[in-house]
Amino acid sequence: MNVSVIGCGYLGAVHAAAMAELGHTVVGIDIDERKIAELSAGRPPFFEPRLGELLSSAIASGRLRFSTDPAEAAGAEVHFLAVGTPQQARSDAADLRYVDAAFDALLPHLAPGAIVVGKSTVPVGTAAGLAERLARRAPHASLAWNPEFLREGFAVQDTLEPDRLVYGVAGGEHDERGRAQAAVLDRVYRAAVEAGTPRIVTDYATAELVKVSANAFLATKISFINAMSEIADVTGADVTALADAIGHDARIGRRFLNAGVGFGGGCLPKDIRGFVARAEELGRGEALAFLREVDAVNLRQRQRVVDLAVEALGGQVHERRIAILGVTFKPDSDDVRDSPALDVAVALKGLGAEVVATDPEGIANARMRHPQLDYTSSTAEALRGADLVVLVTEWREFRALDPVTAGELVAGRSIIDGRNVLDAARWREAGWTYRGIGRP
Ligand code: UDX
Repeated sequence: MNVSVIGCGYLGAVHAAAMAELGHTVVGIDIDERKIAELSAGRPPFFEPRLGELLSSAIASGRLRFSTDPAEAAGAEVHFLAVGTPQQARSDAADLRYVDAAFDALLPHLAPGAIVVGKSTVPVGTAAGLAERLARRAPHASLAWNPEFLREGFAVQDTLEPDRLVYGVAGGEHDERGRAQAAVLDRVYRAAVEAGTPRIVTDYATAELVKVSANAFLATKISFINAMSEIADVTGADVTALADAIGHDARIGRRFLNAGVGFGGGCLPKDIRGFVARAEELGRGEALAFLREVDAVNLRQRQRVVDLAVEALGGQVHERRIAILGVTFKPDSDDVRDSPALDVAVALKGLGAEVVATDPEGIANARMRHPQLDYTSSTAEALRGADLVVLVTEWREFRALDPVTAGELVAGRSIIDGRNVLDAARWREAGWTYRGIGRP
């Protein structure tokens, strides 16, 4: 099939490459010339495992190209809208200006029968509004909404082998137009459909809500266990054992029950805030008031790690050297958007500490946001002479650190495990003072 992807950020670049990998002929469109130049050369503008190989092979095969000109999308049967919906600068609501701009740029180039397929995370009601605009200005085309659930670090796998497909179609699953759209989307995702991937065909509002409610649920799960870790801290209980025990209940499940410095990134924090803002607009703010608490618990975790650090240094933070292990919001990513790790580093620097941060992939992005911090690409260099070590992003190399070797580099054997990933007994045996989150 002929497919266009409008917006080549995280979501769009991965989607474009994956669509080409599935055998479609794809053009990726973005207004950012530098991004388009990088992508055209087969270089991902961000770190994502497997994406480089996928881009290079798809470009070499002639199935994938990139352009800044929306007219290049004209031949496509399906146009994926994959632009960002960041949080507004002065409110919690999502900023839809990129969705509107991309949609308007696409309108003159829609062929008869073309389908515009929204993939961006949007406030519920957005698709209905766009469908109305389409009916007025390009009635020969139609709109569907097909949310994306990819995780950074696993984006290629999640796109090629999604765990479910959700199609929000015109008029819903019982409408003839909707069924025709679903048939087109089935052709797009044939490999997944034939592999038996669960597929939900529904209306626009449900499809939009599936995405934000999934993220709200995941965020709630993380904040739930972090709230338990606060209680564990004052009672001497162990939140890791607690998570293992409740996680054995299949109704609860063990995943996303890791207590620590909390969630960050470009999705969960802004999506729960945007969801609350939308509920308030709809006059149902009280239904989602708990998500404000989820956000508050999450932000409190960052402060808890800072407080633990101050405590570990006996209240004397000024000019003490602190090694920060990790700056990205999660491992296998170079993304530092709303990163708990960086917030902790910046707060400790603000208290007068000498902060040295290290990360396998995130330093360049971190330095752009926080040039006041010191960075090193070498873990050993970060550890050397440190009075305190704070692990805030659980990269494999940090989890694999040997407490004996690390102990020879530091000035003081004191570590805060902000992700509860280290073997506390082993570190203590090697002479370290170990502090976890909600662990005795
Ligand atoms: C998330 C959703 O998982 C994905 O489905 C959606 O499409 C986009 O948002 P992502 O932001 O890539 O994906 O990261 P995810 O793996 O969900 O982690 C989010 C944050 O939660 C990270 O900061 C992670 O460290 C944190 N987390 C996750 C915890 O603190 N504890 C956990 O148990 C799990």
